[in-house]
Amino acid sequence: MPAAPARLVVLVSGSGTNLQALLDAAADPAYGARVVAVGADREGIEGLRRAERAGVPTFVRKVGQFTSREHWDRALADTVAAFEPDLVVLAGFMKLVGPEFLGRLGGRVVNTHPALSPSFPGMHGPADALAYGVKVTGATLFVVDDGVDTGPIVAQVPVPVEEGDTVESLHDRIKVAERAMLVDAVGRMAREGFLVDGRTVRFGT
Ligand code: GAR
Repeated sequence: MPAAPARLVVLVSGSGTNLQALLDAAADPAYGARVVAVGADREGIEGLRRAERAGVPTFVRKVGQFTSREHWDRALADTVAAFEPDLVVLAGFMKLVGPEFLGRLGGRVVNTHPALSPSFPGMHGPADALAYGVKVTGATLFVVDDGVDTGPIVAQVPVPVEEGDTVESLHDRIKVAERAMLVDAVGRMAREGFLVDGRTVRFGT
């Protein structure tokens, strides 16, 4: 008997194309994971509509609904934990999760970032890479720690910068590679398990 599929909770803030790639992959039972809930820090985004169309439960926890960032972090942790996730995937989630969230779920939280870490952390990876003039950038999946895009790296994919690239054209090309990397790496984490040893992440147990 195959093991039960790994339970994924995905957090989004925007268009949710990475989420869609996971939803599409998880439609195949052989993928080994299913999306059990999708959360957001704002309403009215396409990422939430993608989840609704797929019949996946959604929730919104806005920072402004809470009296402090700490209360928001605790409420987010409570809600995510209630879905008993094996893995939490931050897929374009434009908030830093806090100490309570990581205390309860840390080691099981991954984030996808549109740059090759450790270069260009933060909110503007493609713009910062373009401004620096690099010839190659890409995307990184990492296990979230308490820094900004600093956690141990699960997977990376390179993407060449082309002459005439704008931030949008570069980010669009990164996202194509990023989605494939995310689906592949999350599937392997679900099916094979993974170990974090210092800064090294290995698939398998
Ligand atoms: C992705 O490129 C993701 O790496 C990035 O936002 C995009 C979300 O796209 N995240 C960050 O920049 C976080 N620092 P999507 O909503 O279409 O999946």
